[in-house]
Amino acid sequence: MIKKHELVEKILFDNKTINNKIIELAANVSEYYKDKSEPIILIGILRGCLPFLTQLMLNLSIDCVIDFMYVESYLGQTQAMSKPNIKIDVFNNVKNRDLLIVEDIIDSGNSLLKITNHLQELGARSIKIITLLDKKCKRVTNIKTDWFGFEVPDHFLVGYGLDYQEMLRNLPYVGIADINKIKLLENNKK
Ligand code: IMP
Ligand code: MG
Repeated sequence: MIKKHELVEKILFDNKTINNKIIELAANVSEYYKDKSEPIILIGILRGCLPFLTQLMLNLSIDCVIDFMYVESYLGQTQAMSKPNIKIDVFNNVKNRDLLIVEDIIDSGNSLLKITNHLQELGARSIKIITLLDKKCKRVTNIKTDWFGFEVPDHFLVGYGLDYQEMLRNLPYVGIADINKIKLLENNKK
């Protein structure tokens, strides 16, 4: 059996680099929201946000509530759908609340456009966006991040929450997927 690490062509950010970056981001976010009277709501976009959201909230010095949304934006391959669907909506009442959307990576921005429009309709007081990775070169919407960890090139990335067909999310680092090796493996299974 091929091991998960063998499906990565190149490591872009190791675990220590990512965690240090998240500490820095958490300090900036905490500073920004420090005078709010009510806790902010972190809205993690499932499922890729999990490691990032976890590290981020543990390093925040402000109070927060966590919530989640699930948006179907991929058809299982490496191409995004242009019209993502909301599959899981927030549990909290977000009316008049300050929201911070937590993403693993922003590509076209289509998912976030859908999400921000939806949260606005629900009456959020403010909506900010934080993402670990920003693939700015792929943007087709005017979605902008308020905080981001790293700008990344147009490669298919895996690890630290990012998946290839639901696999490789549990790599402790972010790397470029070896698509040829993965495809070979899939063909051998057929
Ligand atoms: P967007 O709607 O095109 O911005 O895509 C956003 C979603 O696509 C992200 O939340 C990820 O789940 C997924 N995605 C985009 N690029 C990658 C990648 O390189 N690897 C894994 N998932 C990705
Ligand atoms: Mg995602």
